[in-house]
Amino acid sequence: GIPSLYEAYSGYFPIGAAIEPFQTSGLKANLLKKHVNWLVAENAMKPVSLQPTEGIFNWTQADQLVEFAKANNIEVRFHTLVWHSQVGDWFFKDNEGKPMVDETDEAKREVNKKLLLERLDTHVRTIVSRYKGDIKSWDVVNEVIEPADPGGMRASEWYKVTGTEFIETSFRVAREAGGPDIKLYINDYGTDDVAKRDRLYELVKEMLDKGVPIDGVGHQTHINMNWPPVSSIIESMEMFAGLGLDNLVTELDMSLYVWNDHNDYGEEIPEQILQKQADRYRELFEAFKAHKDIISGVVFWGIADDHTWLSTFPITRTEAPFLFDKQLHAKPAFWAVVDPA
Ligand code: XIL
Repeated sequence: GIPSLYEAYSGYFPIGAAIEPFQTSGLKANLLKKHVNWLVAENAMKPVSLQPTEGIFNWTQADQLVEFAKANNIEVRFHTLVWHSQVGDWFFKDNEGKPMVDETDEAKREVNKKLLLERLDTHVRTIVSRYKGDIKSWDVVNEVIEPADPGGMRASEWYKVTGTEFIETSFRVAREAGGPDIKLYINDYGTDDVAKRDRLYELVKEMLDKGVPIDGVGHQTHINMNWPPVSSIIESMEMFAGLGLDNLVTELDMSLYVWNDHNDYGEEIPEQILQKQADRYRELFEAFKAHKDIISGVVFWGIADDHTWLSTFPITRTEAPFLFDKQLHAKPAFWAVVDPA
């Protein structure tokens, strides 16, 4: 048989995969049990999944994932308490049902802000209280930095109504509800990009100075065959480690294509392309291993090439971002990561 991925990394850090609850049975479940010791909900723990309507929490799918993990000695990490996407509209409507962002009256804007922060408090407190015994590692806020937006902060409804207060509230309430043992992360993509990284650094530093309980940075790490250089990923992690923070790779996948490159390899991916992917995966994991002191987990945003969010992009082309192919067989990239010599 083939070696276990997570066992090969036992001296370094846990290895995880993001999945949908329906993947917890059959052949996919066997693959997961053998190769990962962390699991993440690809969608089942997002705001709209857990609280689609105010006051109505829907735990069925999330619980299914937690139960599967528990039964198989796998740890779950949480994604994500707060995000601008996949969040119910109801959060951002005022008491008359009007979008909060449209309010121009100063006094009413203050009322709205208070209401939104109360809703946020309830959302975070309810979820963290429910899973704190089962889940240690939490994505608290996701994708709040956007260098192109005013102040370098994503102009989301959260930000437009509360400024950066929603970030502060999310972390403080998560800590209050979860206690000192849970680990709280700020998660984002493109954290190697200098402008983005620097704005994130500045925000995190400001929050830490105010006593906001942030434990680490989650680096999504949706990369492709050429971009970004591995060194820029590591450099960013080193900067955050310098603030005393932990780093996680939270959503790793590797597209075969470079941005809007329309070259579709089709179902039969050329051997030389799979080899190139293996070489890049080897380089990446060698760097992660060399920096295990500042990285405490690596999570793939999926497990095998039969199921990847990259295939939902508007460009139609065969994506094969993982270490296992559509038949769930180990690819050259698997061997490069498990046996890099
Ligand atoms: C994606 C899921 O994979 C898709 O199934 C869903 O339709 C959209 O969200 N960054 C994140 C993840 O933080 O939550 C996203 O997941 C991928 C990008």
